[in-house]
Amino acid sequence: MNRKSNLFALFAIVAAFAIAVAVSAQSSAPQNALPHLERRGNATQLVVDGKPYLILGGEVHNSSSSSVEYMKSVWPHLAAMHLNTVLLPVAWETIEPREGQFDFSNVDGLLEGARENNLKIVVLWFGAWKNTFSSYAPAWVKTDLDRFPRVQLSDGRGTERLSPFSTNVRDADARAFAKLMAHLRDADRNNHIVLLVQVENEGGVIPESRDHSAAAESVFKSQVPSALTAYLEKHRGALEPELRSAWEAAGAKSAGSWQEVFGAAPLTDDLFMAWQYATYTDRIAAAGKTEYALPMYANAALIRPNYQPGQYNSGGPLPHSLDIWRAGAPSLDFFSPDIYFNEFAYWAGRYARPGNPLLVPEAQGGAAGAANALYAFGRLAAIGFSPFGIDDQGNAPLDLVGITNPSERPDGAAIAAVYDDLAKLSPLVLEKQSSGGITAVLLEGEAQRSARANIGDYIATVSRGSGTSGNRIAATFLQTAPNEFLVVGAGDTQVTFSTDKPGLPIVGIESIDEEFFENGNWTPRRRLNGDENSQGQALKLYSTDLPQGRIYRVRLYRYR
Ligand code: DGJ
Repeated sequence: MNRKSNLFALFAIVAAFAIAVAVSAQSSAPQNALPHLERRGNATQLVVDGKPYLILGGEVHNSSSSSVEYMKSVWPHLAAMHLNTVLLPVAWETIEPREGQFDFSNVDGLLEGARENNLKIVVLWFGAWKNTFSSYAPAWVKTDLDRFPRVQLSDGRGTERLSPFSTNVRDADARAFAKLMAHLRDADRNNHIVLLVQVENEGGVIPESRDHSAAAESVFKSQVPSALTAYLEKHRGALEPELRSAWEAAGAKSAGSWQEVFGAAPLTDDLFMAWQYATYTDRIAAAGKTEYALPMYANAALIRPNYQPGQYNSGGPLPHSLDIWRAGAPSLDFFSPDIYFNEFAYWAGRYARPGNPLLVPEAQGGAAGAANALYAFGRLAAIGFSPFGIDDQGNAPLDLVGITNPSERPDGAAIAAVYDDLAKLSPLVLEKQSSGGITAVLLEGEAQRSARANIGDYIATVSRGSGTSGNRIAATFLQTAPNEFLVVGAGDTQVTFSTDKPGLPIVGIESIDEEFFENGNWTPRRRLNGDENSQGQALKLYSTDLPQGRIYRVRLYRYR
């Protein structure tokens, strides 16, 4: 070893020791502790049965989990796609069909199905809201408009959305959710099939920017709660930029009505609704956690370009209102984006923030999903990724992903292949998310011809080949030694290496081996040289699941 390698090795040992001490100090939870979030080195990770866990997930269609029978053929299919976790709805109407009478046979059947197939579950609580509407509330709630009022439009008409300003709605929702969590505690506390709970689904109000019911109007005219203004003052330097600008443009006041504090603009209606949905959801989550304290989160439908509050879900946990949700919903552990748009890196990056680990509960599937998953885990230390509609291998509504011909709907092969890779790599991915030595590159569209990332002393440049128009491409790099990396990719591409560090200026490829994971060990198979690595100039990655393998060990050297 030369002097530089010695120094790197020494540094690596010291860093590993420091992280081991830090991690062990934070991992005092017993082996049988509940699934929980834990800060481990650089990342906040989900810890299950004493070990960090990557959610290689998929969300089933909304109605699939209403039938245990229907799910019987779905579970093995998802396990074969190398998922380890299924995100599935549990509906209020299913567990409390008559007020005060609970039926958990559906929940028990789902737990059993998951257990038999060695899968975990993230429960999605479809309580008062699902996509802003209240279609999963039980009939006894839906039909009692006096007791359970709806969001009202400015012309006085009602909508099919329960009002977040109604304490009757909130208390009935909280009671049902608490019963569900108590049941999960009794049924699952020793098995830990259920890892996380999403509280409600894509809340917010449409088609206007706020609720105009009498209760809502009266709150809108009153003072912004001091708990919120105190939060803004305390966290002023770290507020999300849109919120900070609105508050500062209105004079950064510590008291006043909503329009006085945030200005007389549509965004203020959105912030007002965000506080209401946040404090409501907090009460639901707190009631559930009193029974069984699993980590909980809320998810957001994102904003199409140029949409105004009310055209998008006004009040949802969107990037510009994350601080409002943090202040109003301390019982929620984090907030998640449902990303069907092509600007995956932008949206995911807005949620992968200190104190907010990234879980993408809904996303495009297919080849695009495979690339996005690699980026989320490799670049943003995600705890989980989950294409929507995984049970039929479809994904977003066709118009959202720009597909006009249904036969072009992507299948699940790309996701299955990337999850297969990630399942094998997950101990290393988790270790590197915590200690450093992992990165990823994502090329999102035709115009983006190449992108680079620094890792160790090297720069990896991922370039779009001529025949790859528009395809989404990603590569994840894991550093295993000063000059050695494991690389996994999605999409047809090639990777070149360079350096901007002092020392010898040119980077050469010493070797590339395709690696297989067999019997718990990494085993090299073919040595890729000649045409297979462009005469030593590049690592080639392929979108198809080649029989010869998809994970590569690359060794580099430097020369002048
Ligand atoms: C977003 C919702 O959260 C899901 O439940 C589902 O309705 C999808 N949209 C459909 O694309």
